[in-house]
Amino acid sequence: MNLADSELVGGILDSHGYTVTREIADADIVLLNTCAIRNNAEQRIHGRLGYIRGFKKRKPEIVVGILGCMGERLRARFLDQALVDIVIGPDEYRRLPLLVERAFAGEKGIAVRLSRVEDYDDITPLRIDGITAWISVMRGCDKFCTFCVVPFTRGRERSRQLGSIVREVETLAARGFKEVTLLGQNVNSYHDGEYDFADLMRHVARVDRSLRVRFTTSHPQDVSQKLLETVAEEENLCRHIHLPVQSGSDRILGLMNRTYSVDHYLQLVDRIRRTIPGVSVSTDIISGFPTEAQHDHQLTIQLLREVRFDGAYTFKYSPRQGTRAWEFPDDVPEDEKGSRVSEITGLQHEISLAVNGSLVGTLQRILVEGPSKKSDQEYMGRTDTNKTVVFPRMDEPSGAYVDILIERVNSATLFGRRAEALSERREVGVA
Ligand code: 5AD
Ligand code: SF4
Repeated sequence: MNLADSELVGGILDSHGYTVTREIADADIVLLNTCAIRNNAEQRIHGRLGYIRGFKKRKPEIVVGILGCMGERLRARFLDQALVDIVIGPDEYRRLPLLVERAFAGEKGIAVRLSRVEDYDDITPLRIDGITAWISVMRGCDKFCTFCVVPFTRGRERSRQLGSIVREVETLAARGFKEVTLLGQNVNSYHDGEYDFADLMRHVARVDRSLRVRFTTSHPQDVSQKLLETVAEEENLCRHIHLPVQSGSDRILGLMNRTYSVDHYLQLVDRIRRTIPGVSVSTDIISGFPTEAQHDHQLTIQLLREVRFDGAYTFKYSPRQGTRAWEFPDDVPEDEKGSRVSEITGLQHEISLAVNGSLVGTLQRILVEGPSKKSDQEYMGRTDTNKTVVFPRMDEPSGAYVDILIERVNSATLFGRRAEALSERREVGVA
């Protein structure tokens, strides 16, 4: 979401004559787009500000701005630091050029009002050409999970118009992008007055069949059967659903205001798997929510064993001021949170390894993204189920689709080699 917002801010500044530099040393303006979801995300920003302080000492005229959720949350508290000139929340990016101009004249500025309508629908994000692009289709969240700061920092839910999103996708396809990810805090509540999220997915899928479409994130309360059927029917809609469960204990889910039970969640996963054969399902888990007892934790472990997710992100509960859970006692000790997270990640590691292992010997169609992280002799791409595949370097440019025969796996990555001969034979078969 922040990546997409940074591109939006890039678009706004670009239309006012600014350009992007990758080197802080060359910059006249340094903007930090921030996340407030957990305390450690904020600590990283404070660390980063320390780094920027060194540059400002050498070049005092640079303008430093805090964008995003942490600006929204901490507001003027940032301006007490000599280092920061601008604080601007997620709904006020249009005012950035004005605030930057004033900051160059020595005036600090803050803009943190939230809006019920701002969706930046008319702004073209500044994107570097590539294979995959993020598209924000809605902003804000109305769910008010008791642990979550997002409804306070990003405000109320609002959706962009389907027509404008489809035009954006057409432009991206024409520029050579091969994958788009539609983004929202809870995409299932997308509604533009006429069309729902399933309609949006279908329209986007039909722009260009060689363009893959992903989406994130879904709330388990309102995943519609219509959406699942749409994903099953349209071949370029990726068969991967990220479905945060947060806990395997009904009591904790109640305290979290998640509005579903474990039973509902299990039935939903079952329905997803029946409707979309071969789908992958991943999740988020929070460990150590207030009053979470060993018994609740074991229910989460049990849920993991039962669902067998393809992957899970596990977080220690982090109290956020202003949320309802902030009023609850943060009573699970830090080291106990840590050991519960380790137990969950250890188990999920085993499960992911086994799930990936079942793919050895299969052919997987990969969208090639480029050299792998570890070596330029190896390339990487992803399956439509969002699994990373690494294979020997090849001549095809990034953005090609190739079939890879999976030879070995670990819990995070599949490894294989190109199966040209096999795919040619299949094409002949079809002809
Ligand atoms: N503490 C820990 N994890 C959190 N998340 C959201 N708020 C908190 C919090 N206060 C996690 C949830 C969510 C993911 C994006 O971040 O698991 O799904
Ligand atoms: Fe936060 Fe997601 Fe809950 Fe919205 S649905 S309040 S973004 S955890």
